[in-house]
Amino acid sequence: MKSAIQYAVFVLLCLTIPNTQAVEKITIKLDFIPNIEDGQTTYGVCARCHLPEAWGNDDGTYPQLAGQHVNVLMKQLLDIRNGTRHSSLMFPFVQSRTVGGYQELSNVVAYISTLPMNPDHSRGPWQKGSEQFEQGKEIYQKHCAACHGDNGEGNNELVYPRLQGQHFQYMNQQIMRIKNGVRQVHPAMQAVVSELEPEQLEQAINYASYFAVPKEDMASSKTWRNPDFN
Ligand code: HEC
Ligand code: HEC
Repeated sequence: MKSAIQYAVFVLLCLTIPNTQAVEKITIKLDFIPNIEDGQTTYGVCARCHLPEAWGNDDGTYPQLAGQHVNVLMKQLLDIRNGTRHSSLMFPFVQSRTVGGYQELSNVVAYISTLPMNPDHSRGPWQKGSEQFEQGKEIYQKHCAACHGDNGEGNNELVYPRLQGQHFQYMNQQIMRIKNGVRQVHPAMQAVVSELEPEQLEQAINYASYFAVPKEDMASSKTWRNPDFN
């Protein structure tokens, strides 16, 4: 069944007018009804790196995409496309010449949202009961939960990523990029991250990596393979 999710894409057009006259920015809101079948075809290109299941990997080179909120996925695609978020590997694959326009991006994002999540994502080194786990819990609850949710569920509407089910190394890498200013995020998160020490961030991420993924969102086993690409 085709889902009738709508995406709002915000496009900022900067009008460049000769001379130094200041111009106001123009915001365009666009809605798209995704076509999941077309999205599957497009995903074939993505699967070369992200694999058919979109589950990511333990060493953090690839994130789990399955289960991520559609608006978060879309924002990442647009940010990577326009260079706001730097990924030299993925950059060429999200250009309009290679993947298509907003409709095609909406299709592929909707397709990804049909995939069940990895039942065995990688977790951080400190298990429940250890001092670092408990410290991470405290830091997470104080500094991160307001946006990412008590159980790392994120928020589609507000475009806060779901952390639940994301690989530890990937999150750790991203948060260090955010701390070092390589990746720009919400200014309020940027502020929190610059205040905290790298060890505190790692502990918070460790805690987040242990959030349980709801059973209904997961694949039945870790040997599940995406039948669309068999
Ligand atoms: C050449 C390999 C490659 C291809 C092809 C590719 N990606 Fe990626 N993608 C990556 C890498 C590597 C990252 C992690 C970037 C980073 O570390 O910041 C990534 C990150 C992402 C993210 C960010 C996820 C997050 O939560 O941070 C999304 C969304 C994504 N890819 C979707 C896609 C889609 C959709 C396609 C197909 C149109 C695609 N990718 C094609 C390599 C690739
Ligand atoms: C003000 C809200 C806010 C707070 C507070 C916040 N974040 Fe975030 N976080 C965001 C947003 C928004 C993004 C996505 C930015 C983007 O679109 O690239 C993000 C991105 C991330 C990512 C990258 C996810 C991905 O899939 O690429 C991680 C990991 C993360 N946050 C962890 C944390 C941790 C840990 C804390 C607490 C120390 C924290 N955040 C505090 C809003 C917040």
